[in-house]
Amino acid sequence: MKIFHVSEFYCLLKERRYHMKEIIFATGNAGKMKEIREILSDLPVKVLSMKEAGINSEAEENGATFEENAVIKAKAVAADPICREMEAIVLADDSGLEIDYLGGEPGVYSARYMGEDTSYRVKNRNLIERLSGVPKEQRTARFVCVIAAVLPDGKVLTSRGTIEGKIGYEERGENGFGYDPIFYLPDMSRTTAELKPEEKNAISHRGKALAKMKELLTREVITER
Ligand code: IMP
Repeated sequence: MKIFHVSEFYCLLKERRYHMKEIIFATGNAGKMKEIREILSDLPVKVLSMKEAGINSEAEENGATFEENAVIKAKAVAADPICREMEAIVLADDSGLEIDYLGGEPGVYSARYMGEDTSYRVKNRNLIERLSGVPKEQRTARFVCVIAAVLPDGKVLTSRGTIEGKIGYEERGENGFGYDPIFYLPDMSRTTAELKPEEKNAISHRGKALAKMKELLTREVITER
């Protein structure tokens, strides 16, 4: 694959129908914003949060898959008049934990599992409980992240990243969020809550999906010349 220098890439962007000046990331989560800014930092684009763009959007995540939900969120922001005026590209993500022994639960319901306001202490203990007596080999699980992009002409792109692990027998670690304390990485002998943020970003489902989306956006810009 031909490697483009940033300045060359910038020229390509300038020639494009929808010059990729601004990307709005459809999230209110500061941690996700930080991660996406780091990953896209070598592209000549300005990454804005919805708040920074002055957009307030609450789409109902009623899709049956991570892909559907990510697209629902991105389209809701892309339909906002501010976004259309800016001709910005909108990115949104949807993620969650799939536990094989539970038939993929909590899956797309990860945030809503046992109720949105229930603490992750309670959710994590409940999942450990539901897997009580289940041997190591059957405790396989993965974090999944799908990123959707809506381009100014309405075209939709999606990318998916996963990280495989096992559900632990107890909660471990203080870093991260959500289900991190019970998501054990056998190769690293640690849960994702025991990794430093930069260690987790380098291998995470979100990091992988974002890296793929970065490639897709770059290719999109180049092939449409
Ligand atoms: P989203 O913000 O709608 O994508 O919700 C994803 C939910 O999945 C979060 O609220 C967490 O419960 C869970 N989740 C996704 N990624 C992670 C992660 O990296 N660590 C722990 N939990 C995660």
